[in-house]
Amino acid sequence: MFVQAQTQRGPIGKNGMVVTAHPDASKIGLEILKKGGNAYDAAVAVQFALAVCYPAAGNIGGGGFMVYRHADGTIGALDYREKAPAKAHRDMYLDKGGKVIKNLSRYGHLAAGVPGAVDAMLKVHQRFGKLPFKEVIQPSIDLAARGVVLTDKEAQRLNKSRNAFFDHNTQPPYPLVRNDKTPFKKGDVTIYTDLAKTLERIRDKGRDGFYAGKTADLIVKEMKAGGGIISKEDLQNYSAVWRIPVAGTYKGYRIISMCPPSAGGIVLLQMLKMVEPYDLSKMGWQTPKTVQLMVEAERRSYADRAKYLGDSDFYPVPLHNLLDSAYLKQRMKDFSFDKAGSSTKTKEGKWGSHSEETTHFSIVDKAGNAVSITTTLNSGYGSYVMVSGAGFLLNNEMDDFSVKPGVPNIYGLVGNEANSIAPGKRMLSSMTPTIIEKNGKLKMVVGTPGGSTITTSVFQTILNVLEHNMTMQEAVNAPRFHHQWLPDEVFVENKALSQKTRQILRKLGYMIRPRSPIGRVEGILVLPQGKLEGGADRRGDDTALGY
Ligand code: GLY
Repeated sequence: MFVQAQTQRGPIGKNGMVVTAHPDASKIGLEILKKGGNAYDAAVAVQFALAVCYPAAGNIGGGGFMVYRHADGTIGALDYREKAPAKAHRDMYLDKGGKVIKNLSRYGHLAAGVPGAVDAMLKVHQRFGKLPFKEVIQPSIDLAARGVVLTDKEAQRLNKSRNAFFDHNTQPPYPLVRNDKTPFKKGDVTIYTDLAKTLERIRDKGRDGFYAGKTADLIVKEMKAGGGIISKEDLQNYSAVWRIPVAGTYKGYRIISMCPPSAGGIVLLQMLKMVEPYDLSKMGWQTPKTVQLMVEAERRSYADRAKYLGDSDFYPVPLHNLLDSAYLKQRMKDFSFDKAGSSTKTKEGKWGSHSEETTHFSIVDKAGNAVSITTTLNSGYGSYVMVSGAGFLLNNEMDDFSVKPGVPNIYGLVGNEANSIAPGKRMLSSMTPTIIEKNGKLKMVVGTPGGSTITTSVFQTILNVLEHNMTMQEAVNAPRFHHQWLPDEVFVENKALSQKTRQILRKLGYMIRPRSPIGRVEGILVLPQGKLEGGADRRGDDTALGY
């Protein structure tokens, strides 16, 4: 049981709740709900709003995953992960000697996959939306034209990224940089004139406002100027795909999460199944035994991820074997509380220091429809490449492929054949948008950014609520730790794991590595009387708004 002097609850709503990484996006989502839109209208509005007010991860030049649950219990998922362009090939980031060319898959024009966000939002709206599309996208157009008031965190992030923006663009990417060197500061207003016009084209022409016509021309022109390979055909051929989410049980709860090409859902379900036989509540929150058990589950799942997971449209992912209870029981057979496990059989991955700027939002409407979306450009501001004249950033998602077997990506994750590059293939992800049911009723909506730490952050947040009795707000605030098989280290946030717990784990053979904040979880918990508690992560500018 988690013990805290005073219970901290997030905002409570009776009729709906929107939790996002930015106050402007949460306001826009809430307004859509209040004027009669459903959770899907609000989700579409929030995706476009984040593209304006949260350029580090919000996007129209990237992709993501949506897991949904209608009020009647129907579930589904939309895969809008970026795709490798037709001209991409397996060894495109290697030199003649077969060595990885530093940063080629990470920054600049060649790092970008074909964006999926706009096609996805149009599909969501067309299938499930209630309000006219124009009403749903207009608040973001107005925000872009009026300008976004910078928060302190966003101003600092932009200042830190100034050199990278100049390095990776052929034109200065205004307004994310300034011509003079005056730094951005809290309260400054950034006006996105070109982006407003791009959003207007999407409003007026739908798909053709992005994947054809002027916007497509600008993307292809940008590619040519900077040596990228996304073509008009790539844009025309892009299509988001409706998929069946993965689902499993944990102590009577039903966990619904994202299927490949995200590893998130499978890894989450594996980890939950591996710890299920234990009474974590009794073992206590972040005690040595609880941490050890969770770390060993994480180690085994992330090893499977590296070997077996990739885009299931291209590679036969052994989904049923990976989620088989007998297999997972077997997987934990060599686990012992007496000593640390070991990942040394494979070359150790390196841990990158890049910001893990994906973003997640959770929405529940009055009827009980629930949307869990994680969306990204990959690392902060993606490839740093802004499409000149169109005002938006392109992703650097190509780095989520395994550019060479065993060579770690930006997050230190290694991969193999399952996640090699091929034209039209989607790169493996860790994104874990998740919805939980109890007795056939909605219980929780949750997800987070954080690169490779996404799935372990969702794992911990779920256990914080289900096992350690935390409120949604406490569960997202709680300090976190992370293990990903390689490197064989337990990464810990500042306040995670007491000194005593760290000492005991070190003695057992665990390498404890302090690091910067892990994840920014956005969750909604359905309380016993049906009210909704929003939990917005205090690590950022995140905001939960209910009514
Ligand atoms: N780009 C981070 C992820 O998809 O896992």
